[in-house]
Amino acid sequence: MNADELRSKYIEFFVSHGHARIEGKSLIPENDPTVLFTTAGMHPLVPYLLGEPHPAGNRLVDYQKCIRTGDIDSVGDPSHLTFFEMLGNWSLGDYFKEGAIKMSWEFLTSPKWLGIPAEKIGVTVFAGDENAPRDDESADVWRALGIPENRISYRPKEDNWWGPAGTTGPCGPDSEMFYDIGKESCGPDCGPGCSCGKWLEIWNDVFMQYNKNAQGVYEPLARKCVDTGMGIERTVTILNGKKSVYDTEVFASIIAAVTAAMGTAASGQGGSRDVYTYGTKTDTDRSIRIICDHVRSAAFILGDPRAISPSNVGAGYVLRRLIRRAVRHGRKLGIESLLPIAAAVVDKFGGPYPELAAARASIMDELAREEGKFLETLQKGEHEFEKLLPNLLKDSRKCMSGRLAFKLYDTYGFPIELTEELAAEKGMTVNREEFDEAFKKHQELSRAQGGQAFKGGLVDQGEMAVKYHTATHLLHKALRMVLGDHVGQKGSNITADRMRFDFSHGEPMTADQIKQVQAIVNEQITKDLPVTMEVSTLEAAKAAGAIALFGEKYESQVKVYTVGEGSNFFSKEVCGGPHVERTGTMGRFTIQKEQSSSAGVRRIRAVLE
Ligand code: ALA
Repeated sequence: MNADELRSKYIEFFVSHGHARIEGKSLIPENDPTVLFTTAGMHPLVPYLLGEPHPAGNRLVDYQKCIRTGDIDSVGDPSHLTFFEMLGNWSLGDYFKEGAIKMSWEFLTSPKWLGIPAEKIGVTVFAGDENAPRDDESADVWRALGIPENRISYRPKEDNWWGPAGTTGPCGPDSEMFYDIGKESCGPDCGPGCSCGKWLEIWNDVFMQYNKNAQGVYEPLARKCVDTGMGIERTVTILNGKKSVYDTEVFASIIAAVTAAMGTAASGQGGSRDVYTYGTKTDTDRSIRIICDHVRSAAFILGDPRAISPSNVGAGYVLRRLIRRAVRHGRKLGIESLLPIAAAVVDKFGGPYPELAAARASIMDELAREEGKFLETLQKGEHEFEKLLPNLLKDSRKCMSGRLAFKLYDTYGFPIELTEELAAEKGMTVNREEFDEAFKKHQELSRAQGGQAFKGGLVDQGEMAVKYHTATHLLHKALRMVLGDHVGQKGSNITADRMRFDFSHGEPMTADQIKQVQAIVNEQITKDLPVTMEVSTLEAAKAAGAIALFGEKYESQVKVYTVGEGSNFFSKEVCGGPHVERTGTMGRFTIQKEQSSSAGVRRIRAVLE
């Protein structure tokens, strides 16, 4: 079973059980300042899990590209990935535990679908604590399906609960499904969920049945939801009896591109040389895995409809780190350029992700540009090192301080291994312990950011965020009225304190244009216009004058938000919501800044007071 088959079977199965196929969303979340990347299939669906009606109905299925960077420094071992694909199905107030578990079981075990022998499957369910009872309901369903008692484990909140930890929002127990690889059990307590390596997780059914309120009380939710997630790479690994995701067909052509590129620097074009066989040298294999994973992530970020460029902040910084780490490991293997490897990624995934194929040229351009910049950085780092040298040589222990080495890393992006190499050439060492300590602090910081990612999507739907969201619609329309219909939204970013709005426009706005736009937005607020939502087809929405941002290919039904009444409406946009009910509640709108964002794109910063 390869990834393409798994993806189509999953969609086909859930469609045949009444689910609407929806499109996976962008890797870069919109209107969510708390996260850098989409981290799970449920992330773009948070508003619907919180009660918004979904235009496609109450049963949904999709596959979603995800990035989790919390463990970025572990990539290189046989299991870690930064980019992965997640299959998911959702019930928004429709079926609950029994329905979800029965469908999971059928998909896993029926010969028509995955055909996994029933005796290979074990499950975990929530053990219960002071906030919520033991999940006997789920256990009963598993039992009725024939799972014996010794393959049902009861686990605490750390293992079998999904939702915001320490914050408010929807949450609930989950039930996870594991595959028994047949290894000897590690002891009397070994069972599904045990980390000894016998039980591999393939799927997670989350039952959102509580809302944790501000007082920390778990209130039963009026509309209970199901959220499930199955990682494609991991499942393909298990179904094929492989030990590592990198041993599956998912990575085969990408690894081949890496090994083909190895040694191009040394041998030159056309020189005959042996191609390295993946799996023969530990260090080389590790570098190959890092290159495969990081180039795959970078290509998907650069090929996203909301693509960003490498930079020194936020998601752009993560992208920069991914590319630079891949370049560095590439140099170790004699690889001159990552472009052929990125091409292999586009070839492999351009089918299920057409946006990737469409962006092939810009992916290559950006990657080449960043490679070039990094080479400059390396030269600059070497130059800085030379400047430090006279002082360093005065040290009688011939040891460079780790803090200094970290500064080279942090300020110039100069990798520690290269600092060590340069030091060694001068007969010196680097205080690696001190460097590692400084590095660890830095790592904890980025890990904290990565961890936040899971909870972030669930929280920031505050009242102000909703007002700013409606303000983006008013601003979008006002800009088109003043500047022309070439204006299109390129992105937005909202916090409780301000909004940013990026749009296509070739030149700075004049002071007069800014004033006009601001006045138009405030006029709509003063008029206290109603904001209404209706569900229609995309074609009908466009025909009615709605602006649609990204093509929603698989969704036959979309939500359209209208500001204003009747045929005299002010704005109409295809959008997931939520929005204010009337514009009069929004406050006064002020544009604080208008500046360039990137070539042909302007950025407005504005506040509501
Ligand atoms: N949201 C759940 C997960 O990511 C399904 O595991």
